[in-house]
Amino acid sequence: MMIKITNEYEKDSDAIIHYGSCYDFVKKIPSKSVKLVVTSPPYNIGKEYEKKVDLNNYYKSQEKIIDDSVRILTDDGSICWQIGNYVENSEIIPLDILLFPIFQKNQLKLRNRIIWHFGHGLHASKRFSGRYETILWFTKSDHYTFNLDPVRVPQKYPNKKHFKGPNKGKLSCNPLGKNPSDVWEIPNVKNNHIEKTVHPCQFPVELIERLVLSMTNPKDFVFDPFMGVGSTAVAAIKNNRRTIGCEIMEEYYEIAMNRITLSSKGTLKTRPMHKPVYNPNKDNTENKIENNKSQSVLFKDTVNGVRNGNQTKIFSS
Ligand SMILES: C[S@@+](CC[C@H](N)C(=O)[O-])C[C@H]1O[C@@H](n2cnc3c(N)ncnc32)[C@H](O)[C@@H]1O
Repeated sequence: MMIKITNEYEKDSDAIIHYGSCYDFVKKIPSKSVKLVVTSPPYNIGKEYEKKVDLNNYYKSQEKIIDDSVRILTDDGSICWQIGNYVENSEIIPLDILLFPIFQKNQLKLRNRIIWHFGHGLHASKRFSGRYETILWFTKSDHYTFNLDPVRVPQKYPNKKHFKGPNKGKLSCNPLGKNPSDVWEIPNVKNNHIEKTVHPCQFPVELIERLVLSMTNPKDFVFDPFMGVGSTAVAAIKNNRRTIGCEIMEEYYEIAMNRITLSSKGTLKTRPMHKPVYNPNKDNTENKIENNKSQSVLFKDTVNGVRNGNQTKIFSS
């Protein structure tokens, strides 16, 4: 697939990948031009890419980017804010609870509070180990894009039929699969995950694919203000959507550019949607993964070309 990648906003770009802060860049995105904003912001817990600040200041900076995200959203668009806990002296403050009033003030409509459940993380000793985070899914209006069929998941009993009554013998379930519900079990990206890069908290691509496929249509724009290593962009490009992303850390930005390029060529390895989660009591042959190191080669020249001087590059396979 041929795609156009730019560092600055250009209407006909397929991927606008900006090296710099989202707070300034978002001002350049036209109002009502983006179908889906999906992100995982810094949690203000002192990770290598953030400076811990007073919680009020954190709230204000989140308010700024959320307000702008609402402005750039199309009337039938969605915002998905993926968040966990702020932690201070072992006390947790769920960030979705903290930030909810900002979305309410913007008159967004909450459609789901999705629980993303995963298997790996820190082992706590003074409370139960945290094994989920949430995605708050809001729409701007009551007329919003929602395509359920592309994200249906296999039925537990796929050929279940009515056993009596007028429909006896006919399928009692949807042959396309069932609604995935609002509790999603998707492995988080830890060391032996096929998508693992140096980023400490990257999205699994399949998590974002489910949002992209259900909440957008081909060629729609998907924006991630805190792009990291570009997992949202990868999910968008892989599924024939366009993407906008910002990242302040050079190393992550370069990896994002590399992954987007590979994705446009169809050569980036990602964990497939619907792949069963590892079960220690079963034969997990299909879960065995290949070493992903070959994908860490960076296209330095291309990255620098796009970043410096708002230059446009076309990649083709
Ligand atoms: C939780 S991580 C997101 C990871 C991302 N979901 C992925 O899959 O790679 C948050 C990211 O936001 C970046 N960041 C922090 N402040 C930023 C800002 N003002 N503008 C753009 N990116 C920022 C950090 O460097 C970090 O990579």
